[in-house]
Amino acid sequence: ELFSGERKNSYGYNIEIDAQWNNFKAMIQPFMATTWQAGPIINGEVLSTNTTPFSIVAPYDHNHIVGQVNFASASHVDLALEHAEKAYPAWRDTPVTDRAQALERLADLLEENYGELMALCHREAGKTLQDGIDEVREAVDFCRYYAVQARLAMSETETLQSFDHSTLEISRQGRGVFVCISPWNFPLAIFLGPIAAALAAGNTVVAKPAEQTSLIAFRAVQLMLEAGIPAGAIQLLTGEGATLGEPLTSDKRVAGVAFTGSTGTAQRINRSLAKRQAGPVPFIAETGGQNAMLIDSTCLPEQVVRDAVRSAFASAGQRCSALRVLFVQQDIADRIIPMLRGAMQESIVGNPEYHQTDIGPVIDRRAQTRLLQHIENMHKNASLIAQTPLPFDSDKGTFVAPSAFEISGIEQLSEEQFGPILHVVRYKASELNSIIDSINASGFGLTLGVHTRNETTANHITHRVRAGNIYINRDQVGAVVGVQPFGGQGLSGTGPKAGGPHYLKRFTREVRKTQPQ
Ligand code: NAD
Ligand code: ALA
Repeated sequence: ELFSGERKNSYGYNIEIDAQWNNFKAMIQPFMATTWQAGPIINGEVLSTNTTPFSIVAPYDHNHIVGQVNFASASHVDLALEHAEKAYPAWRDTPVTDRAQALERLADLLEENYGELMALCHREAGKTLQDGIDEVREAVDFCRYYAVQARLAMSETETLQSFDHSTLEISRQGRGVFVCISPWNFPLAIFLGPIAAALAAGNTVVAKPAEQTSLIAFRAVQLMLEAGIPAGAIQLLTGEGATLGEPLTSDKRVAGVAFTGSTGTAQRINRSLAKRQAGPVPFIAETGGQNAMLIDSTCLPEQVVRDAVRSAFASAGQRCSALRVLFVQQDIADRIIPMLRGAMQESIVGNPEYHQTDIGPVIDRRAQTRLLQHIENMHKNASLIAQTPLPFDSDKGTFVAPSAFEISGIEQLSEEQFGPILHVVRYKASELNSIIDSINASGFGLTLGVHTRNETTANHITHRVRAGNIYINRDQVGAVVGVQPFGGQGLSGTGPKAGGPHYLKRFTREVRKTQPQ
């Protein structure tokens, strides 16, 4: 059945005819037994630490060891900042074409090491093969895109004529040491994206990846050094946010922070930056969402269900963009909900190595416990629509059964649930405006999906809902670099949009020179 040619993976591709699938599997095969080692990389050297190495296990099988990581301490933070600060003037003054070329060489190296990086995404982050392919592709796209953006933004000098006929020139340069802090759910793409922008703009970087995905980050920094990015320009601090975050973000040598992660951590970093005995610096924060999809009775039900299932459950719901609350107009709810139930029962949860798997594990025990707690609460306070069955051996790893519950309104949810849990709300057509108000009242503003064939309704909703990324009659995950710039507002982040034409400029300062006539 699985290989009948009818079966589609979660991205809608026919896995039978996709011959490339086997090529990708063959690419990861040589790395399926590798055990990686990682630790802080300061000024090009891997430093030893006094702590016991942290073992990384595969989220789909906790008996499967992926590697060991040495965590940095507060003294490494100081050393990393010292080297990054020392390296800044030379890197700032390196011609932008050279900086851009180094990033393009990095993109080439990422492509040359596609198999190993996909294997790491799969084994360390529990990604499906398709998500691994997309992850490496997005990282490559970020490097190439910011290289191009840097050539455009950094080599231009704008000349303005002053009223007294003097000439005024405005150009851009790096700001100094940028701290880039990243999450585990896009361990390569979102680790490298902000770093690539910061470096291309002429900053040096201290990078703090999520502890859960230190091995991928370590391998990426090795490739950066191989690509010719100077050892002083990129410092890697492996370790826990709770230990390294405060010393890093409270240091006066920091010229800017680019953070992607939860809203709570962004708020903590903001407070830490505010306490510094130094001037204010840019803080770019890309955070969580309580993302809604609104569908009215003119929608195409088959398309809605396909898009809602992909938006809510692809990547095990571990995307900031993922759909959390599906608002279904009452008139069509009794058609949509049974179809949703059917689609969820057909989905396959399992080891992400198998190409028939739609939904893999969640990242770790902590995430699993939190999600199971929410499911338990929902069983008490909402009605279950469907739950996708787990594989028989799911207790080897951290799996959560994809679940959909009918709830009374978005107000019933106090925080983002970062996993495969969908909430469904029925609404009457006359309640549309109060539904929109309730979405805005959540304070988040990341993605919004709309399914309607009524243009007036689409315009009304998209005009009134505050969301950074709006998708009409399609799914709402998987923004493409350079084509769908991605960023939120309110509790979801500061903007500018990653992968968009204005992002890199936030990593620069403007320099003004006035010359008499
Ligand atoms: P998290 O906030 O727990 O951790 C993110 C990073 O911050 C990690 O590197 C962590 O070690 C570090 N950190 C933790 N405490 C810190 C502190 N006090 N100071 C400095 N750094 C600290 O988030 P996570 O669980 O790794 O990632 C999931 C979250 O990321 C979700 O909320 C998701 O919505 C969000 N996310 C947002 C986007 C976006 O583009 N908007 C993209 C991906 C993920
Ligand atoms: N850029 C990622 C997405 O769109 C977060 O799913």
